Amino acid sequence: MTEPVTKPSTVDIDWKTMEDWDRRYYIHNIYAQDEYNPIFISKTEGRHIYLQDGTKVLDFMSQLISDNMGQRHPKVISGIKDALDRYGHVYFAFSTDYRARASKLLVEDIIQDDWAGRVRFLSTGTEGVEMALLMAKLYTGRPYIITQEYAFHGWTTGAGGGCTRIRGYSNNLASPTDPNSFQEVPGFPTPGYYVAPAPYCYRCPVGHTYPDCKSKEPVGSLPCLRPLEHLIEVIGAENIAAVITEIMFGGAGIYSPPEYIPQLREITRKHGILWIDDEVITGFGRLGKWFGYQLYKDTYPDIMVIGKGLTSCALPSGGVVVNKEIGEFFDQQRWWSGSSHEGHPITLAAIVATLEAMIEEDIVSVAAETGKYLETQLRQLEPRHKSIGQIAGAGMFWVIDLVKNQERREPFVKEDRNSMRAGDLSHWPINIVMGKCLEKGVFLTGFTPNTLKIGPALTSTREEIDQGLEALDYALDTVDEMCD
Ligand SMILES: Cc1ncc(COP(=O)(O)O)c(C=O)c1O
Repeated sequence: MTEPVTKPSTVDIDWKTMEDWDRRYYIHNIYAQDEYNPIFISKTEGRHIYLQDGTKVLDFMSQLISDNMGQRHPKVISGIKDALDRYGHVYFAFSTDYRARASKLLVEDIIQDDWAGRVRFLSTGTEGVEMALLMAKLYTGRPYIITQEYAFHGWTTGAGGGCTRIRGYSNNLASPTDPNSFQEVPGFPTPGYYVAPAPYCYRCPVGHTYPDCKSKEPVGSLPCLRPLEHLIEVIGAENIAAVITEIMFGGAGIYSPPEYIPQLREITRKHGILWIDDEVITGFGRLGKWFGYQLYKDTYPDIMVIGKGLTSCALPSGGVVVNKEIGEFFDQQRWWSGSSHEGHPITLAAIVATLEAMIEEDIVSVAAETGKYLETQLRQLEPRHKSIGQIAGAGMFWVIDLVKNQERREPFVKEDRNSMRAGDLSHWPINIVMGKCLEKGVFLTGFTPNTLKIGPALTSTREEIDQGLEALDYALDTVDEMCD
């Protein structure tokens, strides 16, 4: 007979042995073995993570700007438990009530806008991107994809090696001791991808100043979109399957000006190219709307990639939503594709429970309201800290570019988003802020050297927002001391 499963108390865990095993056998990311200093999380609950000694830490980034409904939402836990009573694994040739319910919930109840036709659920956001690229190529019969500099779309060959263009975050190696020693993955970037400039107005890649740049261009176009149009002319629209973008760049922390996405959408429409909208980080309420594209009037994607917030990362999940025409195209074919894990009933149960909880709690409106409060409080820090270069974002996802000199907009780490992450990184502003915030019981950092990511759970209370910002305020005092 199987023994009943007992919940292990964290007190009984031999952390010393765990550390030994973790150090000895795991392939670690981010850190070289010699510098690896494991931080064990003993449990997670709501908006908090708990360290092995029991210290309670407010997670002001909801892990990877991903756990939108917080950790261990009771409805999600109970949905997963119910599914475990009925299901182990069912592969994609079969269906389940959970798959049907999740599809209907997403396409009909949540998206509502008339563009969406069908959804396919996968295991990660990266796989969602791969699937979107594949579908775009099969549907159009064209080989090329245009991505943006500083984009992050995942880690695989297409999503990562082709579309991801944030230097130092493409599966490369970097020496922990020699700042000039790093190795890109041989063969990367994957051929077949072209790169357009990012809409990074704070340091404009095409040398303009927003919003003055609008008046200098023909009505209806931003200068940073000219190179995109030029690329399309040079490669030939008939060879380009899709342009892939993020509404708010997850890795690089860039928030485009309001005209950018609608104008880009118009360019893709004009040239008959698909627009893939990667909403892995921005979807499910993060920007104060169900999806980021809803920030713009009459602007709809052809293919939308989803992930993270789909289950608030309670279980690994991702997927694609396609428009009706693309859905109909694939309806007419036998499509020989599939993964052992896609449409897993337990994951689908987590998706159903998460989406139902989001609807019941009207969490998107809550996020929009809390987001306004977060922005107001955040902007109050601006005049108090000379290291704040710019604050940008929407809803519950904000970034701060930290600078050595406000007037010159000079970053502390000069390579900024192009850093290869080699050598000593302890002087990086995001690492200094992380250490200081942890002193105050708050987790907050970033992915690129000078750019902080603020992305608390959408369920955060105002007190928690205040606590997170107080810690940030305290941390920025130290960064200010490093300014000119
Ligand atoms: C915009 C974007 N696309 C794709 C991905 C990859 O998703 P995943 O980590 O689930 O593979 C991420 C992850 O952070 C992301 O931010």
